[in-house]
Amino acid sequence: MPPPNLLLGVNIDHVVTLRQARYRTMLEAFNVEPSVLQAALEAEAAGAHSITLHLRADRRHIQDADVRLLRQQIGTKLNLEMGNTREILDIALSVRPDFVCMVPENREEVTTEGGLDVAGQRATLRPTVKALNDNGTRVSMFIDPDLDQVRASADIGASMIELHTGTFANHTGQERAAEVERLRAAAALGHELGLQINAGHGLTTKNLPEMWSVPHLAELNIGHHIVSRAIFIGLRTAIQEMLAVMATYRDPC
Ligand code: PXP
Repeated sequence: MPPPNLLLGVNIDHVVTLRQARYRTMLEAFNVEPSVLQAALEAEAAGAHSITLHLRADRRHIQDADVRLLRQQIGTKLNLEMGNTREILDIALSVRPDFVCMVPENREEVTTEGGLDVAGQRATLRPTVKALNDNGTRVSMFIDPDLDQVRASADIGASMIELHTGTFANHTGQERAAEVERLRAAAALGHELGLQINAGHGLTTKNLPEMWSVPHLAELNIGHHIVSRAIFIGLRTAIQEMLAVMATYRDPC
């Protein structure tokens, strides 16, 4: 079988959000559910190409033990999203995920709200990227579709960018169309600079096709919509539904 055009990383943070809502203070109990491992294995069985999870400084969902468990047990790739702190970097260096996606992190935010300011934080990001690269982990920068941020990501040694599609997802009409143009320009420049182009945030089976004019897309990271759909149709079917839409992507370049 030829490789798919576009790979899917399933973000399972929200499966763990549900677990934490009930069992935060008793994670060792025999009856803890839902299982993060079962969710990851189910995602793989459905055809996911990687498992994505965000170890936040406040540990609001994913816990250190979840990252270590999945590192040992999954058969696909592990993609760890992380803020640029010494504590989380040390965990990433010890766990050695296949990929790291550097994200901004604000304590009060409900979810990752904007892209990382790579251009403004080169001095602190560069050594983190180098440490991860030297340790065998490929690094991505979660950025807004802004050309300066794309250039800065290449400059500090990242091998991938993940374009933040939140603005695209949260608007319609002219505003969405304008954001698609920004995504197109950022993807084109990133590709020219040798970066792998990923995208994520707020993507759904409905809005995805409106992104199909964006060139060079390699991987999408999707969580909230898949987990929301899973409540009604099950995780495996929700992922297969997403993969079916993704299979319609044809790189316009
Ligand atoms: N990519 C990154 C870097 C993220 O932080 C997130 C979660 O906010 C996602 C992808 C997935 O976004 P969503 O849950 O909206 O699909």
